[in-house]
Amino acid sequence: MAEIAVEATEVPAQLPRVRVAVLGAGKMGGILLQAFLKQNLFAPDNIHATVGHAEKAQALSIQWGVDVSTDNLAAASKADLILLGVKPFQVPDLLAEIRPALSKDKTIISIAASVKTRSIEETSGVDLAVIRAMPNTPSMLGAGAAALCRGRFVSAAQMELAERIFETVGRTVTVDEKHMDAVTGLSGSGPAYIYIIIEALAEAGVKVGLPRDIATQLAAQTAFGAAKMVLETGYHPALLKDAVTTPAGCTIDGILELEEGGLRVTLIKAVMRATERAKQLAAG
Ligand SMILES: NC(=O)c1ccc[n+]([C@@H]2O[C@H](COP(=O)([O-])OP(=O)(O)OC[C@H]3O[C@@H](n4cnc5c(N)ncnc54)[C@H](OP(=O)(O)O)[C@@H]3O)[C@@H](O)[C@H]2O)c1
Repeated sequence: MAEIAVEATEVPAQLPRVRVAVLGAGKMGGILLQAFLKQNLFAPDNIHATVGHAEKAQALSIQWGVDVSTDNLAAASKADLILLGVKPFQVPDLLAEIRPALSKDKTIISIAASVKTRSIEETSGVDLAVIRAMPNTPSMLGAGAAALCRGRFVSAAQMELAERIFETVGRTVTVDEKHMDAVTGLSGSGPAYIYIIIEALAEAGVKVGLPRDIATQLAAQTAFGAAKMVLETGYHPALLKDAVTTPAGCTIDGILELEEGGLRVTLIKAVMRATERAKQLAAG
């Protein structure tokens, strides 16, 4: 994915002494790593990342200006904080590889969908501090949504560090682990649903005669503005919808079509299906 300028609302003080390993710096791990760099959260010399392929590691190392290799054990050995960014089914093998580097004083943050903190604790063989996080791709622009949950051996200070890290890339909530698959189905996968809605609205704009670029801008800004209204006013979305819906006006006609087309039920079912799938991912 192309590098995009991150607009930080507030630049946090660097965590200069924290050494970080991002193991599996792919789409999501890479987005987080780049956002941390842009936000000046960690010193670049203290970041060590890995990917699966050596040629990719070399290219990313040049692009990001941090050490990127394929050596997970070396990267984990140098880190206080280890972020697991590989696919869920790859987590057990990765843990086996870095096991000699794991100790009680390190913090693991796993962004892998479906993989339970207990399974990471048990595979590690030590009373390891494991935090599970489910971020999403708008973290790239500091507009992410992330949920965190804690494993059995996480201290308050370790949890605070994780919250601080994810707050630099967006809105962060803490939930019980039993909710993590639901978070995956809602906000982890959610950007894809919203892109489809924006794309469809833009197509609709084209259908009613707008140039595509204007239609896309209007659709995206409308989604952004509506989301901002919900978050910043604290009003129920239904109340905000009612404020747009003049009696016998145009909006109610549009809403009628949405209800007839089953948009509401379709979105609910999409999140339910994604949540169900999230429960299975760790098994491969
Ligand atoms: N994408 C999202 O929106 C999103 C959101 C929340 C959470 N997640 C979670 O993030 C994780 C990664 O998903 P993704 O979409 O970012 O996938 P991805 O782009 O395929 O990233 C996986 C990364 O892992 C690397 N990798 C593979 N084997 C490795 C190994 N043995 N050692 C070190 N690195 C290795 C891959 O490197 P190569 O490319 O060189 O093979 C790649 O960089 C998943 O667990 C997913 O549940 C993703």
